[in-house]
Amino acid sequence: MNHIIIKDRFNPQASLLRQDFESRFSVKKDTSHKRFVWDYWYVQDQYQFLRTPAYHFFKAKVYNQFHTQLVNWGREHLGCHDVSPPWLSYYIDGMQQKPHSDVPHGPWAWVYSLTVPKRIFTGGETFIFKPEVLNYWSHFSNEKNREQEAYMDFIAPDFNRLIVFDPRYPHGVTPVVGTHDPLQARLVIHGWFVEPRPYVVGGLTTEQAQLGIENVIYNLSSVMQSQGEFHGTLSLRLDIEKSGVVKKVTWLTNTVLSLSSDQKAEKYLKNWLSLQFKKTIFPKATKSSAMTIPLLFR
Ligand SMILES: [Fe+2]
Repeated sequence: MNHIIIKDRFNPQASLLRQDFESRFSVKKDTSHKRFVWDYWYVQDQYQFLRTPAYHFFKAKVYNQFHTQLVNWGREHLGCHDVSPPWLSYYIDGMQQKPHSDVPHGPWAWVYSLTVPKRIFTGGETFIFKPEVLNYWSHFSNEKNREQEAYMDFIAPDFNRLIVFDPRYPHGVTPVVGTHDPLQARLVIHGWFVEPRPYVVGGLTTEQAQLGIENVIYNLSSVMQSQGEFHGTLSLRLDIEKSGVVKKVTWLTNTVLSLSSDQKAEKYLKNWLSLQFKKTIFPKATKSSAMTIPLLFR
């Protein structure tokens, strides 16, 4: 599953966010302005849930810890420097999102669950179409299970679970059934990772690191000419010694597909990039560096 990443127990302070949410409902008939923050997001036959900007909802200290952790995770693993302004949303009985794609919101979508650990509702899973469904006939087999799990991945909204996925894949949320209580609802913070560009930690400056990979990026056009067009996102990490030599190339994510469904071309691109980055020489530095490089094909 190149297009889905699941990180359970993502945030060590998840319970503080949950407590902050619950505190808003602690006075049952509270009519202060703080209760009037929810927008009913309704698009007929498509979206139905309640949402509010997460940044303004939580206490700043509690929220900032989560936000910083999330942004740093995106920089290290995806080479995305920021997130779009996150939403806090809850889903009670009947609420859902029908299949759609988020284009061009950002190369990666994320959904972080603060749903109560012991759920009393059914549904509320994030569903994402499987790649083979989007290339159906080339993967068709009479022997395969032909029920919904064959066509989509379903990911439950477990407390403190972060789901990251390629939002070009059709996705949505299965209907929540079984509660009208916000405290029992599917509760998530969600948004997109944005601003993909190289991220460097260590002895090299960002400018030195970017200059170092310029040639590889430039020569990519020759690969496109020989292998056809690609679509998708990939990120990889270079471990660079202080001598400037690349010690290791690690693939972090890769959703890049050949538009002509040519798997040989996809493999060629991956091997070519690994080889080119491995033989790149960076300037000498006082200590080693780690560089996360995102590449977007559109
Ligand atoms: Fe979406």
